Amino acid sequence: VAGNVVRKSAPVPNAAQVAGGPRAGVTPAALATVAPPALVSPRDQNAAGKEFIEGHWLGLEVIPLTPELAKEYGIAKGESGVLVDEITLESAESGILAGDMVQAIDGRPTPDLRAFFLATQRVQEQERASVAVSRRSEKMTFFMEARNTKILGFAQMEAAQPIAPGALSPHRARSKACTECHIIMQTGGQLPTDAGDIVTNPPPIARAATLRHENRGQCARCHVIR
Ligand code: HEC
Ligand code: HEC
Repeated sequence: VAGNVVRKSAPVPNAAQVAGGPRAGVTPAALATVAPPALVSPRDQNAAGKEFIEGHWLGLEVIPLTPELAKEYGIAKGESGVLVDEITLESAESGILAGDMVQAIDGRPTPDLRAFFLATQRVQEQERASVAVSRRSEKMTFFMEARNTKILGFAQMEAAQPIAPGALSPHRARSKACTECHIIMQTGGQLPTDAGDIVTNPPPIARAATLRHENRGQCARCHVIR
C-alpha cells in the first residue's frame, strides 16, 4: 500500500513521488533543481509486508503461477498452485521436478505463495510431509524428507528486490503501485554485481608456464607474461 511508505506526520505522496519519479505538471528540468524527498526506513515502508514473489523450502524454489507460465507449462485452466522453478537438496531427492505445480502440502491446499508459506509452517516440526503436485495435469504425490536437519522447518520467502528512487519499471505494467512489491532504497538494497559476474583477475605468468586450465586462447590476451 502506497500509504505505508510515509511517516505518520508527513503528507501522503503518491507512488511516483515516493519512487522519486516525475510529478504531473512538473517538467524534468524543473525537478532537477528540487532536492529529492528523503526516503523513509524499510520498516516504515513495510518491507516485511510486501508481496511474496518466491519461496524456498529444502531446495524447492517456487514462484507464483501467472497466465503466461500456465500457458508455457501446459497447465490446464482452473488448476491452481505454485510453480516449481528449481529443485536442489532434499527436494531433488523427493522426485519433484521443475515445472511441477505444488497443489498441497500434507493435504493443505497451496493455491498461492502465502498459502504455501503457511502450509509449510504446519509441518515444520515433522521429519516428512507429502507434497501433492500436478505434472502437466497428472496428479502425483511425493514426500519431502528432512536430511540435513531432523525437522522440515518452514519456507523462507522473498519479495521483489529494492529499487532505486526514480527507477523505471523494466517489466510489464502490473496494475499495482510499485510499492506493493518493492521498497525504495538509495543504496545497499542489492549488490550491483553478483559473484557470477566477477571474473578472476588472471595472475602474471612466466614465459615457460604450462597451461593449468582449459585452453582459453592466446596466453597474452589475459596474462602479463614475465
Ligand atoms: C506485483 C509486484 C510488482 C510491482 C507492482 C512492481 N514490480 Fe518491479 N519487479 C517485480 C519483480 C517480481 C521483479 C523481479 C523479476 C522481474 O523482472 O519480473 C521486479 C523487478 C523490477 C526492477 C529490476 C530491478 C533490478 O535491479 O533488476 C525494477 C527497476 C522494477 N521492478 C521497478 C518497478 C517500478 C518502477 C514499479 C512501479 C511502476 C514496479 N517495479 C512494480 C515485481 C513488481
Ligand atoms: C581468457 C583469459 C585467459 C587466457 C587466454 C589464458 N588464461 Fe591462464 N588464467 C586465466 C585466469 C582467469 C586464471 C586464474 C585462475 C583460473 O581462472 O583458472 C588463470 C590462471 C593461469 C595459471 C595459474 C597461475 C597462478 O599463479 O595460479 C597459469 C599457469 C595459466 N593461467 C597459464 C596460461 C597459459 C600458459 C595460457 C596460454 C596458453 C593461458 N593461461 C591463457 C585466464 C586466462
